[in-house]
Amino acid sequence: MRMTLRFFIVLMLASVALAEPITIKFSHVTSSDSPKGKGAILFKKLVEERLAGRVEVEVYHNATLYSDANEMEALKNNQVQMLAPSLSKFGSYTDQFAIFELPFMFKNVDTLQKFWKKKAGTDLLNAVSNQGIVGLSFWSNGMKQIISNTPILVPQNARGVSFRIQNSDSIQRQFEMIGALPVQMAFSKSFQALKDGTVQATENTWSNFYGQKYHTVQKYVTETNHGVLAYMLVTNRKFWSSLPFDIKVELTEIVDEVSAYVNHEANKINEQAKESILATNQIKLLQLNDDQRQQWQHVFDPFYADYVKTIDSAIYLTAKNVNR
Ligand code: LMR
Repeated sequence: MRMTLRFFIVLMLASVALAEPITIKFSHVTSSDSPKGKGAILFKKLVEERLAGRVEVEVYHNATLYSDANEMEALKNNQVQMLAPSLSKFGSYTDQFAIFELPFMFKNVDTLQKFWKKKAGTDLLNAVSNQGIVGLSFWSNGMKQIISNTPILVPQNARGVSFRIQNSDSIQRQFEMIGALPVQMAFSKSFQALKDGTVQATENTWSNFYGQKYHTVQKYVTETNHGVLAYMLVTNRKFWSSLPFDIKVELTEIVDEVSAYVNHEANKINEQAKESILATNQIKLLQLNDDQRQQWQHVFDPFYADYVKTIDSAIYLTAKNVNR
């Protein structure tokens, strides 16, 4: 009996020792210096410190594993276990993320983060759970600006200009509204398209301009701050529910810690990217006066009228309140 027990314990210990670590593939499309890239690196570091031998993380920056065109499918098929797509890329899965698409809805990244802390904001982590996607956290990048080859100060200047946009029908609608020619395109293709003139302009944050070196192939940045660029850190339900309880608890704590870091650093990373771009003297910075800003705000009125109808009123009112 004793022998059998000892044998059983040895077998148990051996199987624990021999168990293959769980691998989390974390794929994303931006550079390793972006808020998301830095978040992914910190996530890997903390997981491999605290769950050493039990979980390992492979981080793929710059769309080297999946691009934004196919990453969500890969997540659903468990070919990758973690992504942080921009909120605009969830538009085909939920109407509720339209709140993040409304131009000038959020004054800055701070009000966006305040919104996420309210119940209506936190609840949005579940917005795509019917797709087998588990929302773990929200990460901010920054405010969107316009980078272009011709000066764009008022909406009128964007008429007839082709813009690379994210895969988002609502962003497409906004650009059509100002008479521009939007082209939905994977982020990984955007630099080349701006360089060879396939498109003449795009919107994004300072950190993404810098990370993709757009400033080396464009002439002007208009500091419009017209919208937010942010992410939902997601995993798939099949993977998440397969994890042992203690690992899931530890991963949840790590996600909270990393999210606090990303959301704290994002403004700083964008400020530094802006300084670095302007220091190259390759770009002329255009800032809007009050009249120009108002033109941008009003040009999107019909977009508001259409999209607000699709958003739950509690979500809309909460967003309005945090921006008062
Ligand atoms: C884009 O496609 O412009 C962004 O979603 C890239 C990113 O993930 O920041």
